[in-house]
Amino acid sequence: MENLINKNILKIKPYEPGKPIEEVERELGLKNVIKLASNENPLGSSLKALAAIKRNLNTLNRYPDGNCFYLKNKLAKKLKLKPGNLIFGNGSDELIDVIIKTFVGLNEEVLTSKVSFVEYEIVSQANNRRFRALPLKNFKYDLMAIKMAIRKNTKAIFIANPNNPTGTYVNKRELEEFLKGLPKNLIVVLDEAYNEFVDVRDFPKSLDYINKNVIILRTFSKTYGLAGLRIGFAIAKPEFIECMNRVRQPFNVNLLAQAAALEAVDDAAFLSRSRKTILDGKMYLYNELEKLGFGYVCSVANFILVDVKQDCRIVFNKLLKQGVIIRPMAIYNLKNFIRVTIGTRKENIRFIKALKKVK
Ligand SMILES: Cc1ncc(COP(=O)(O)O)c(C=O)c1O
Repeated sequence: MENLINKNILKIKPYEPGKPIEEVERELGLKNVIKLASNENPLGSSLKALAAIKRNLNTLNRYPDGNCFYLKNKLAKKLKLKPGNLIFGNGSDELIDVIIKTFVGLNEEVLTSKVSFVEYEIVSQANNRRFRALPLKNFKYDLMAIKMAIRKNTKAIFIANPNNPTGTYVNKRELEEFLKGLPKNLIVVLDEAYNEFVDVRDFPKSLDYINKNVIILRTFSKTYGLAGLRIGFAIAKPEFIECMNRVRQPFNVNLLAQAAALEAVDDAAFLSRSRKTILDGKMYLYNELEKLGFGYVCSVANFILVDVKQDCRIVFNKLLKQGVIIRPMAIYNLKNFIRVTIGTRKENIRFIKALKKVK
């Protein structure tokens, strides 16, 4: 059997998603389980997006618009870009794959940081591309070390900003210093999945850099509350987008996702409620964690990396038994850390109550 499988595939450690609520309820015989494990929007989805899904249910016999025409035009206008600057994907996950296939050749490498989004490595391996990751510095991407580590065959540098799972960010000055004088034959991907939650002034305005070899990734999964529909997008210069379009599947974004995203983009009230829920929840959690004597890493995203000062897998299991799903960070070698997604006020209170019991 091993002889039949591509060797690089055998090296892949499978992605471990957050445990689904239904699975935990089924396996542990629990009710009212809460999931704070996958950085989803705790408020649900925009009602306008849900209404659009219902309106479009009778057109599912048709293929979706492979070009996402209406969504592309609306979003371009909103971001003050040209439609040719945008490409949509089945979640931004898919676009990571499209980028690696489009830009990185077989003997070229993807460079990034350790303790960052695991898909960069999985997708590189699945495509048989080389992959290298440098250590974080104080839980942050060490851009200077990454710059120094660039080799002749380095073709794409992925920067999750804010970073998942640390919630830290690289600021405008650091990013500009990094971009200055980079070799012309590589691309920089700024993965901004959590962009809308950021509440600091020195966060880079990434759209200013797309005339350089920068590609920005964003998603409807987080602030827009549409993780289950799978839709994300990339922003780049039209020449890049045109080549990425050759690589993606022709009907990669389903019809309901396009219809919902078209409405979600305009639902400013839902976006601002989502943002406020996260920012308020973050303050509450910081405060409670401090009272409990746990350390944490300051986050500009909708999750917090918490130092629980004991084996995170034990904490994970003890919280699970109380119906609270979080993420243990042992896969990153952060043996005493968990990552908790900021939930509704009620969910945050429940998490803290459960955490008190495992202290
Ligand atoms: C940094 C980062 N990039 C990309 C993604 C993927 O998002 P999507 O749901 O759009 O595929 C995630 C999801 O958790 C993420 O944390």
